[in-house]
Amino acid sequence: MIRKAVLPVAGLGTRFLPASKSIPKEMITVVDKPVIQYVVDEAVAAGVREIVLVNHSAKTAIENYFDVHYELETELEKKGKLALLKVLRDIVPPDVRVISVRQGKPLGLGHAVLCAREVIGDAPFAVLLPDVLVDNAATPGQTDLGHMMAAFEKHGASQIMVEQVPRERVDQYGIVSLGGDAPGAGPGPGESAAMTGVVEKPKPDEAPSDLSVVGRYVLPGRIFELLAQTKPGAGNEIQLTDAIAALIKEQPVEAYRMTGKTYDCGSKVGYLQATLAYAARHPEVGDAFRALVRQYS
Ligand code: G1P
Repeated sequence: MIRKAVLPVAGLGTRFLPASKSIPKEMITVVDKPVIQYVVDEAVAAGVREIVLVNHSAKTAIENYFDVHYELETELEKKGKLALLKVLRDIVPPDVRVISVRQGKPLGLGHAVLCAREVIGDAPFAVLLPDVLVDNAATPGQTDLGHMMAAFEKHGASQIMVEQVPRERVDQYGIVSLGGDAPGAGPGPGESAAMTGVVEKPKPDEAPSDLSVVGRYVLPGRIFELLAQTKPGAGNEIQLTDAIAALIKEQPVEAYRMTGKTYDCGSKVGYLQATLAYAARHPEVGDAFRALVRQYS
């Protein structure tokens, strides 16, 4: 069973300035919860019980969010605000541990994942990039990450979540090759197919396909050894993509085509889309929000 997940949260969030100047971008709220809460909930729903945050010294607000706020809890208890107290206590379920390690230098995503090595050990684990929200509301009780973890457990092949992107945007992502690629080809939604390669942020005319890596990975402990050997690549950073390319040469790695929707909350428009989607179906404010949208459109 895959029980551990790494969430690299050390990034400085330059795409979200000025909001992210003194608030970590992961703490910016979508409706009434910080973005990071949705990502942790996704991991927990898929069966993860140990979350490893790879953090930066300027972003302790994330660690505080997942810690107990004793004074606040005592005050709420004293005032009988038990519903609010429950909201606080539900942030992390009692059987889930949130652990924090630091990435002292911004050397890239691959380096960030490598910083979690001592905590993860040799066991397979998931990686969730906290900028990306994966919305599986259309399939209650079934998540893409859950499918990926089940596929790993069944066949032992690493799982990399992908979705199709317009050709002109391939240079923003890791792009996978499956052998005999053609636009629109590859695994169907909810299915996996063997990968033959992956390249970080290729030029549109050099990209092996239009299937982009979305920010959810299920990987074996072996990846740490490969990350330790990975030299700086695209953007002069140690890329997780390059270590995955090395892993493909040793063992099966599969591209899993997602069924849900993604929102890139590291970008302003992606964040607004997420807010619209989550607010419109929010149990408390959904009706009022939809009425508001009608009023302003
Ligand atoms: C990272 C990964 C890239 C992936 C992307 C998904 O890039 O390096 O392979 O496609 O996340 O969001 P970043 O967005 O950090 O530049």
